[in-house]
Amino acid sequence: MAFARYMNGQMSSGTLTLILVAMFFCVAFWETGSRRNLSDDLKIPQQFSVDLPGCLAIISGGTVNRSELQMLLASRTKKNLLSEDFYLNATKDCYAYIEKRGFITETLSEEENNFPIAYTMVIHEKIEMFERLLRAIYAPQNIYCVHVDQKSTADFQKAVVAIVSCLPNVFIASKLESVIYASWSRVQADLNCMKDLLNSHINWKYLLNTCGTDFPIKTNREIVKVLKVLNGRNSMESEATNDYKKLRWQYHYNVTDTVIKTNEKKSPPPISSPMFSGNAYFVVTRAFVKHVLENSVVQKFLAWEEDTYSPDEHLWATLQRMPSVPGSAPANSKYDMSDMQGLARVVKWSYLAGDVEKGAPYYPCTGEYRRAVCVYGAGDLQWLLMQHHLFANKFDPKIDDVAIRCMESILRFKALGHEIL
Ligand SMILES: *[C@@H]1O[C@H](CO)[C@@H](O)[C@H](O)[C@H]1NC(C)=O
Ligand SMILES: *[C@@H]1O[C@H](CO)[C@@H](O)[C@H](O)[C@H]1NC(C)=O
Ligand SMILES: *[C@@H]1O[C@H](CO)[C@@H](O)[C@H](O)[C@H]1NC(C)=O
Repeated sequence: MAFARYMNGQMSSGTLTLILVAMFFCVAFWETGSRRNLSDDLKIPQQFSVDLPGCLAIISGGTVNRSELQMLLASRTKKNLLSEDFYLNATKDCYAYIEKRGFITETLSEEENNFPIAYTMVIHEKIEMFERLLRAIYAPQNIYCVHVDQKSTADFQKAVVAIVSCLPNVFIASKLESVIYASWSRVQADLNCMKDLLNSHINWKYLLNTCGTDFPIKTNREIVKVLKVLNGRNSMESEATNDYKKLRWQYHYNVTDTVIKTNEKKSPPPISSPMFSGNAYFVVTRAFVKHVLENSVVQKFLAWEEDTYSPDEHLWATLQRMPSVPGSAPANSKYDMSDMQGLARVVKWSYLAGDVEKGAPYYPCTGEYRRAVCVYGAGDLQWLLMQHHLFANKFDPKIDDVAIRCMESILRFKALGHEIL
């Protein structure tokens, strides 16, 4: 295979470029024959293709050309992210913007066309990362609800509006919250989007929620295939609750600009099934969303959750184990699901990482930990690409831009029909 020879340094990068270009033209030509007018989308834009050889070298783990690798790794930290002004200017001509920034504007397969996906995107900063996440998950048949934090700067909000205005199936939530860490507002942001998404004209099948530090590790086509296997079930972390985490919903919390515990005991949860513990991320069916917004028992449960600590970390996990909720699993411990088993998000926790041969769930982060969560580095890519999850958290171009750029390049390469392994 051409890449293997390249990695072994037997081929000049010029030759490789020629082979790559030839491969892309072949695919473009072949696909154009079967579908109309796809050729423009099927060119790998330059911003993805320049990194591809080095990225494939990183994840191949085989013999690599050191000077190429070092060049790539020298650009790990991105010092200057693109500014709001850049986007305000660039989006003046939407057609040119979409083209230049490499959005895929045509549905890549009939299977994807028949399986639209809805997304919520809860963001508050780093406009460039919003664009890169959106571009990585964007497909014209899907629908995207963007919740911009009311506290974010006016410039940021304007730039988000500018980007969103260039894409017909991306919109800003009709109601915006000021999102306070660990408070109900984080849940409310997703609920606002859920409502808007149900009211949209797109008959989406599943809903995935994302935030600004997430990135997909699968193409839209792969996500569709995985969701089809779920066959109407939801997927998320949902486990028994530790005693110390029970305090989070046994006491009333005061929300100001932080969330503070009071000594006031809360009434028990107004549901007949037990509470469970999980994270903020879910993969849920349309029927689940409809039920959450309309069912009277769930409305009471939502209201009860409002003054708890970090409700996103027990609300979804508990709904997922209520027998009456569409797509849920029984409360029986046989159905407990860890974050590693669920599909929604792969996260590396600092206190769990270690030597896998000695029983740790994963090796330590090659980027940096933030609030005990790994901000992935390029050294985590090979492992990430082997996980079944649809998304990974966290990424940050200030910690390791190569990890993100490689994910972008590899996903685009795969989206256009190439195998990487
Ligand atoms: C590695 O790649 C660089 C840049 O493309 C090239 O100049 C160099 O000759 C390659 N090294 C080997 C050993 O092939
Ligand atoms: C604004 O966008 C145009 C078209 O993309 C570009 O040529 C120009 O350099 C940009 N101006 C600034 C100040 O970024
Ligand atoms: C909680 O908030 C209420 C009203 O805002 C206030 O009266 C009370 O003292 C607060 N309790 C704590 C423990 O902060």
